[in-house]
Amino acid sequence: MRIKSRMSTSADGYVTTPAGWPALTADPAFVPGQSHGIREFLDGCEAALMGRTTFEPALNNDRWPWPDLDVFVLASHRPAGTPDHVVTESDPVRLLEAVRAANRGGDVHLIGGPRTIGTFHALGALDRLELVVLPLLFGGGMQLTPGLDPAAGLAFESQRALPGGAVEIAYSCEGSRAPLPGRPASQR
Ligand SMILES: NC(=O)c1ccc[n+]([C@@H]2O[C@H](COP(=O)([O-])OP(=O)(O)OC[C@H]3O[C@@H](n4cnc5c(N)ncnc54)[C@H](OP(=O)(O)O)[C@@H]3O)[C@@H](O)[C@H]2O)c1
Repeated sequence: MRIKSRMSTSADGYVTTPAGWPALTADPAFVPGQSHGIREFLDGCEAALMGRTTFEPALNNDRWPWPDLDVFVLASHRPAGTPDHVVTESDPVRLLEAVRAANRGGDVHLIGGPRTIGTFHALGALDRLELVVLPLLFGGGMQLTPGLDPAAGLAFESQRALPGGAVEIAYSCEGSRAPLPGRPASQR
């Protein structure tokens, strides 16, 4: 399994709107679950992993956002209304073990936010980071750093233009992380 993250960002470097919504939601080209290459990205994914702040708004959605994925949430408490099948855990190492134990060979979508991406990258667990740079300027909002350590090394893998004027840039994190203690690279 690979743990892959894909963050939308404004052209001036904000991953949320000034009001705190994911950057993608401000793009007129945004169609939930369909636009900006998300279907290709999710092909081969079997699980979604995220922090509590990113997870909680889904509890008020009309439509459950991850109908085909196992869901794992890093949270110090289980948010009220969380469906039974969702795994919540306060310790990132234990949550990672739960993700691995449940894995059937598919990839894991590390949805975010920045703090949770930084947490799993620091554990050596993030394999790939994709950025979707939107043709928008926000002038404010949340940045990917410092949740993700600014010193995190990224190795360029690919880029492509997306319909609507966004650009996807994919990086490998393979060369930028320390292995988990006692765990060979093949089992990370
Ligand atoms: N642009 C995009 O594509 C995109 C994608 C996803 C999210 N977002 C945005 O990202 C923002 C949220 O990001 P965020 O970084 O503030 O929050 P987050 O990562 O979604 O969640 C943070 C929570 O996760 C838990 N957590 C994270 N690291 C931990 C650690 N090392 N140890 C223990 N618990 C840990 C804590 O839960 P407890 O408080 O329960 O302890 C923490 O409060 C939202 O505004 C969302 O819209 C953007």
